[in-house]
Formats: sequence, C-alpha cells, structure tokens
Amino acid sequence: MIEVRGARKSYPAYDGRPPVVALGGVDLTIRSQEFVCILGPSGCGKTTLLKSIMGLVRLDDGEVCIDGEPVKGPGFDRAMVFQNFALLPWADVTANVAFGLDLRGKSKQERERTAHEWIRAVGLTGFERHYPRQLSGGMQQRVGLARALAVDPKILLMDEPFGAVDAQTRRLLQEDLLARIDLSRKTVVFVTHSMEEAVLLGDRVVLMTPRPSRIQEVITVDLARPRDANVEKDPRFVELKEYLWQQLRAMQASEPRQ
Ligand SMILES: Nc1ncnc2c1ncn2[C@@H]1O[C@H](COP(=O)(O)OP(=O)(O)OP(=O)(O)O)[C@@H](O)[C@H]1O
Ligand SMILES: [Mg+2]
Repeated sequence: MIEVRGARKSYPAYDGRPPVVALGGVDLTIRSQEFVCILGPSGCGKTTLLKSIMGLVRLDDGEVCIDGEPVKGPGFDRAMVFQNFALLPWADVTANVAFGLDLRGKSKQERERTAHEWIRAVGLTGFERHYPRQLSGGMQQRVGLARALAVDPKILLMDEPFGAVDAQTRRLLQEDLLARIDLSRKTVVFVTHSMEEAVLLGDRVVLMTPRPSRIQEVITVDLARPRDANVEKDPRFVELKEYLWQQLRAMQASEPRQ
C-alpha cells in the first residue's frame, strides 16, 4: 500500500517571483496491486508526485509511506519510467535495460537474458547494440519502459510512458502491458494526459488540479477486466471519458489567461 499524506512541495523561482507550488497538500492511498491513473493539466504536479513516491523528491511537508514505512529514497521495490526517458547516453540498449538488474546484483547471463526478453516485448529486437542517440524519441521511451519492467518491481511508477510513441505502437503496448501487468499483479501508478488511456487502464483515475496543485477527485472505473479495444464502445467507458473531459475543460476555463 502506498500512502501519500499531506504532501507539499514548492520549487524556488529564480526571477524574484513567488515559489512554484508543485504539490499543495496531496493525500492519496493506493492499495497493493491497484492500477491508478493520474490525470491533470500540464504543470499540475504529476511528475513531482511520482518522483516523491519514487523517493527522488524531498517533500517540504507531509510524507509518503509504503507498507507503513516512510520513503527516504529509491528502493528495489520500485521502478520508474521517466517522462524524459533518463537513459544512460554512454550505454547501449541492452546495458540501459539491464541497468536495474546490475544494481540488484544479477549475473551477467541473467541480465542479458532478461534484458533481451524485455527488448523483444517493447518491439526493439535488432537494436540491442544501438546507443540512445541512434534511436528515435519513441524508441528511447520504449527502452525506458523495458528498463523499468525488467526488474519486475512490486511498484511500477510510469510517467506518460507512451507519450512519445506513435498511436499504433501505443495501442499494442497498452494491450500487451495490460496483459503482463495483470499476470504479475503489480501496483501501478500511471501518469497520462489521455482520458481514453486513463479509463482503459485504470482501476481508479485521480484527477489533479493546478494552482493549487491538489487532488480534485478520485473516480472508480467500474469496467470489468480484462479490457480490450471493444471496451471503448461500452456506454460506461464513453460516459467516464466524457466526465473526465468536462472536468478538465472546467479546470482549463478557470485558469487565468496569461
Ligand atoms: N526541478 C524543478 N525546479 C523548478 N520548478 C520545477 C521543477 N520541477 C517541476 N517544477 C515546476 O513544478 C510544477 C509541477 O511540475 P511537474 O513536472 O510535477 O508537472 P506535471 O504535472 O508533471 O507537468 P507535465 O504534464 O507537463 O509533465 C511546474 O510548474 C514546474 O514548472
Ligand atoms: Mg510531468
């Protein structure tokens, strides 16, 4: 179980302006093996929330606990897929995917085997010896995805993991990923900009609002699993998606124009 309690985080502004409030008091409980999607406008603090669960952001106030233990830094129970990929530029695809396995002390043989399995799963067979700079944005993103999945973490933190991949690959990954995650019963916190993706993947959808950066509402997605592409024709799917869109539109309308 992940418990975020009263999480506050501000970043200093360097040009004499007031600090930027990235988290303005966030409370959220995520059950074990739950798939929770976080949806909200750009800049509302989604990445900051994920990084605080990962233990990469020091909160100004409040805390994150995992199974009752306060998070003080990264741990082997968690892995994150970064929005900006965060690949090692000097390491090839295999070494990037194997990075977390290396940290966990796996043998060379096991590292290579697992890395190649996940490289195949994200459709990058043939690129094992390429370096990140030799790959497109979408391909780099899939390397980041494979790296996080390869360590088989209990908690998977995914920051717009399909943001840079084309629509067709996104679709395939969504389906394949869902099947794999169902099998291994992970806890997943999944940030997305897409209402469709949130309703397709989530057990619950957390709507975040900017200024103040808080949770506006948590919506339960009462659609049976496994969900395939046909679920998008389900009236309940359409209704939930429409509801999320209305909420997001209302948030945007209430934003002061710059
Ligand atoms: N390291 C940082 N230094 C200064 N300000 C930051 C830093 N990281 C984030 N911010 C600010 O905090 C706010 C929240 O940022 P965050 O990246 O968490 O938002 P987000 O919801 O993930 O946005 P997006 O949807 O565009 O990825 C933004 O206003 C951003 O400018
Ligand atoms: Mg972000």
